[in-house]
Amino acid sequence: MAQQAPLLRVDELNVSFGGLKVLQAVSLEVTEGEVLGVIGPNGAGKTTLFNTICGFVRPDSGALSFDGHRLVPRPHRLTRQGIARTLQGLGLFPNLSALDNVAAGATHRSRTGPVGALLASPWAERHELRLRDQAMGMLEQFGIADAAHRPCASLPYGIRKRVALARALISEPRLLLLDEPAAGLSAAETAELADIVRGLRQRTTVMLVEHHMEFVMNLCDRLVVLDFGEVIATGTPAQVREDPAVQRAYLGEAVAADA
Ligand SMILES: Nc1ncnc2c1ncn2[C@@H]1O[C@H](COP(=O)(O)OP(=O)(O)OP(=O)(O)O)[C@@H](O)[C@H]1O
Ligand SMILES: [Mg+2]
Repeated sequence: MAQQAPLLRVDELNVSFGGLKVLQAVSLEVTEGEVLGVIGPNGAGKTTLFNTICGFVRPDSGALSFDGHRLVPRPHRLTRQGIARTLQGLGLFPNLSALDNVAAGATHRSRTGPVGALLASPWAERHELRLRDQAMGMLEQFGIADAAHRPCASLPYGIRKRVALARALISEPRLLLLDEPAAGLSAAETAELADIVRGLRQRTTVMLVEHHMEFVMNLCDRLVVLDFGEVIATGTPAQVREDPAVQRAYLGEAVAADA
């Protein structure tokens, strides 16, 4: 496993907004099949790192590679490029049903397009039906099939989080980026989410940002710690927990408390 080429490689990424350096020479690797956690205090640059990997933010310098090839991420082609993400917060269409939200995650696989929709060919209809079947299957897997036809806005937060996850997964990404998936969940929901993410290992590689230390420490194979836009530590949860630089960055916060 150690010799395997990384699925994602981030090389010396620099990002600034105005004069503010938000990421500074950030390098890291994500190995296929692992769950990599990215942690760090508020404002450390975690979401910006995800946004750069997804092409929403353009770096001043640095490079990305995916599966051994240079990656120039394009947000509208991201699922085709093998990457999917959930947003910090929800990012669902509140008025669409859970099922439609999940189906919307498969945009690159929906071949209907505006012309197809106008013609409403039987082939296109069959394709859309298959997509909806698949979306229903995802909801079933996550135990929320009951919610399929309800507008997302009417669903409890924990259920909406699962809808967001199902939507990201329906594109069958090789790399799934989760930005604070446990935020706002109860202790029981957080434990269930950890089980769900563990179950995803078979089908995708996961990179997640999270403040919830117990969740991160128990779930992730490796952690990367960002502080003021710089990587200050990388290692197993046990290594990172003991790292004095990490403890300093989290001064006043309980980095090791529940782990
Ligand atoms: N579009 C933007 N324009 C200007 N500054 C930004 C922008 N996005 C983020 N920043 C700043 O960049 C820094 C890093 O923000 P980022 O959202 O990446 O942090 P984070 O680690 O995800 O924090 P949190 O844990 O609070 O989500 C912060 O100082 C933030 O204010
Ligand atoms: Mg963030």
